[in-house]
Amino acid sequence: MTLPDIQDVINAIYVVAVLVFILGLRAMSSPATARRGILYAGVAMLLAVLVTFFSPGLSNFALIALGVIVGGLGGFYWARVVKMTAMPQMVAMFNGMGGGSAAAIAAVELLGNLSDPATSGLSMAGAIIGSISIAGSVIAFLKLQGWITSKPIVLPGRQVVNMAVLVLGVAFGGYALYLLNTFWLLPFFVLLLLYGILLTLPIGGADMPVVISLFNALTGIAVGLDGFALVNGPLGDAGYAMVIAGVLVGAAGSLLTVLMARAMNRSISNVFFSAFGATEETGGPVQGQLKPIDAADAAVMMAYASQVVIVPGYGLAVAQGQQKVKELADLLESKGVTVKFAIHPVAGRMPGHMNVLLAEVGVAYDKLYDRDEINAEFPATDVALVIGANDVVNPAAHRPGSPLQGMPILDVEQAKNVIVIKRGQGKGFAGIENDLFYRDNCRMLYGDAQQAVGALVSELKKAS
Ligand code: TAP
Repeated sequence: MTLPDIQDVINAIYVVAVLVFILGLRAMSSPATARRGILYAGVAMLLAVLVTFFSPGLSNFALIALGVIVGGLGGFYWARVVKMTAMPQMVAMFNGMGGGSAAAIAAVELLGNLSDPATSGLSMAGAIIGSISIAGSVIAFLKLQGWITSKPIVLPGRQVVNMAVLVLGVAFGGYALYLLNTFWLLPFFVLLLLYGILLTLPIGGADMPVVISLFNALTGIAVGLDGFALVNGPLGDAGYAMVIAGVLVGAAGSLLTVLMARAMNRSISNVFFSAFGATEETGGPVQGQLKPIDAADAAVMMAYASQVVIVPGYGLAVAQGQQKVKELADLLESKGVTVKFAIHPVAGRMPGHMNVLLAEVGVAYDKLYDRDEINAEFPATDVALVIGANDVVNPAAHRPGSPLQGMPILDVEQAKNVIVIKRGQGKGFAGIENDLFYRDNCRMLYGDAQQAVGALVSELKKAS
């Protein structure tokens, strides 16, 4: 009996890891199994990384181990302490690091193999995409973190300048290949990083979901290209693992990008090249008055309703009021009220944010309705209870010239009564005034979402 070649064993384990990755992705497609999906993907990644250490020809073990430990501990710590509401900036940063790693791998390949046309061509493509992805992701991170304005930063002549920077950067790369001189890789990388920055600065905060998912997809593509380049080197088969991982991330990220763009009713080119949101509001001063309501009156209104639709938003996530919301829904149902949840795809700060929040406290999935399903029901809804949501219910989206124009929203203003829970007069993420709050059928229940919903629960209990 002959023992199998070590590389064959490693390759077989790569195939297992890939299958587990795919199972993980599959499981992530439903909130009920998403946690399991993340676990599968983590195990697959661990397996792929560990087995690579046994690759024949691998050197620099200490340096690689150091990188894995520093990166692993950093990622573990950050993921443990991050608040759910800060998840998008963390995802942006992690994506960016993936893009940066892809660009760094490509740089090493270019420095070592500039004369090999296949390797250098693939590495150059990986370097271009990876550099744009890390630079753009850092800007997305800064915007989401609030360290720079989330409004579009529009520089004069930006389309021409951006195109010139991109073309010049790529030209320097071509020149390096032509002269086989690595010096010209320096301006190549600098200009592509600059392009990533310039491309992302004019994108407004509300479009960040599309941007993050697109950079995620680009990172996957860059990693895949690097993998192809590595296949020609001494660690050839490890390159195939990167190709597969890159293709999976690229494909999943592209699908998510399309879904997010559709949720905003925007084309991807419109998001990236139109500086949407840079226009000022055109609707003039909002007409009407804000009409407060107290918890007791709001509770009575809901207790006598036949249907209540709850619309959760970012403020609910900040207040961590989901447990109280579940109590409220259960209490209303015990009184014979039909309760439904209207989930907007970009409510909160990350895809699926509201689904995760409500799943955490055991709200049944069949009570969650997406925008297309629930919008037709608002006219027959007695009370729409908006909890910490703003942009996703802003009727300004129907107004030509509004910075939110075209974004599909939840049409809560069509409900017979609207109760909005928020702390004060804060605007939504897009910074636009919301005239829903001033409409005749709308009442404001001011307070922190957890406390205000808690007050509703107490009032309903008193009335039982
Ligand atoms: P937002 O438009 O961000 O509005 C949230 C509202 O909640 C604010 O008006 C705020 O008003 C209120 N609020 C904040 N803290 C609160 C608290 N503790 N208790 C009660 N209310 C509180 O939320 P949204 O409607 O969910 O829209 C999401 C926005 O984020 C969209 O523009 C979307 O494009 C953007 N975005 C989404 C994602 C993803 S993928 N979901 C990622 C990045 C950006 P007060 O200050 O008056 O309380």
